[in-house]
Amino acid sequence: MHRNVIVGQSGGPTSVINSSLVGVYKTAHDRGAKKVYGMLHGVKGLLDRQYVDLSEHICSDLDIDLLKRTPSSFLGSCRYKLPEIRDNREVYDKIFEILEELDIEAFFYIGGNDSMDTIKKLSDYAILISSDIKFMGVPKTIDNDLACTDHTPGFGSAAKYIASVTKEIIRDGLVYDYPVITILEIMGRNAGWLTAATALSAGEDCEGVDMIFLPEVAFDIDVFMEKVKKLCQSKRSVVIAVSEGIKVADGRYVFELKDHVEFVDAFGHKQLQGAAKFLADKIGAEFGVKTRAIELSTLQRCASHMTSRVDITEAFQVGGAAVKAAFEGDTGKVVVLERVSEDPYICTIGTQDVHKIANIEKKVPLEWITQDNTYVSDELIHYIRPLIQAELSPVMVDGLPRHLRLTL
Ligand code: F6P
Repeated sequence: MHRNVIVGQSGGPTSVINSSLVGVYKTAHDRGAKKVYGMLHGVKGLLDRQYVDLSEHICSDLDIDLLKRTPSSFLGSCRYKLPEIRDNREVYDKIFEILEELDIEAFFYIGGNDSMDTIKKLSDYAILISSDIKFMGVPKTIDNDLACTDHTPGFGSAAKYIASVTKEIIRDGLVYDYPVITILEIMGRNAGWLTAATALSAGEDCEGVDMIFLPEVAFDIDVFMEKVKKLCQSKRSVVIAVSEGIKVADGRYVFELKDHVEFVDAFGHKQLQGAAKFLADKIGAEFGVKTRAIELSTLQRCASHMTSRVDITEAFQVGGAAVKAAFEGDTGKVVVLERVSEDPYICTIGTQDVHKIANIEKKVPLEWITQDNTYVSDELIHYIRPLIQAELSPVMVDGLPRHLRLTL
């Protein structure tokens, strides 16, 4: 690699997304890239010529260590959908003009299935105009809903955080001598992988959650209320995990059953929020018991003080692998993980055609959900467990985790 490379981050962040950024940055440098540019706010910022020379912002080994442990997207993110090539070639011409100006040899985009749409379109356009710039996707998403990969970097750490705080919430729920019903709302859009991670809370020292509801199956409110009523009769504390994306049979999200403000992003995704509150209020009103709705919200994707070492290591590796693949001539591909051994857990790293990944949501297989749709199977727990293993301690300064901040 003798020219420059550029890297961007796109979509919702994770607590290890910057480890992938470091993987791209370090590997590109080590393999001889002249400059590593970072797009500010992904391709949207690039269109406004917003980028930085990363070597001016990552200045030492300590910076690298801090950046790996820094949550959220260091370079800023975007939810920007490129138009179809046939509808608007000007946008593409502008992007390629900027990339040529910067003497870019390879373009790396760290993102989920929506962001891979950008890699798909740009690599298709490169072929159309016979450009030799390479375009590679680096996977990330807490949702774990990317096709063709065993799992996505970002998921393991979010799952570890969710299972840990679920244990703490379960303990807290038992504190009084009267019933408390707690509903936890977990992110993940239309895939229930993260909500399923609450099942990992069960163990020798914890009774685990009472029920888990994933978006893969229709949510029946009447059956739900009936089950909660029964649980209330036999238990003091009931803790139930629901995905933010649970839907009733007619296709409406549960949170849409009450008044809400609708926000829809460029990919047509509604902001999913309020299922737990709706259900907790309904239980409180109908059964006259104390309820709590806890939305883990952004906490589950930015808890860099509790990452999985397996996850943060893989996040770094997929960044490095994307650079290696591009330098060896690959383009229009996404780096993927393949689990080759369960015990010991071993994953190998490969690449897949971006057309098989962009815009596709990988859901939890129905056979990993129990027949009554209220819990997950042991196979699912077994699948997640290796991904949450080991820790990477934060760098603590003055009692708090230290982060690396981009100053412009
Ligand atoms: O795509 C990851 C994710 O964290 C989803 O789990 C969640 O629904 C969504 O992003 C929230 O997006 P935003 O931060 O744009 O509201």
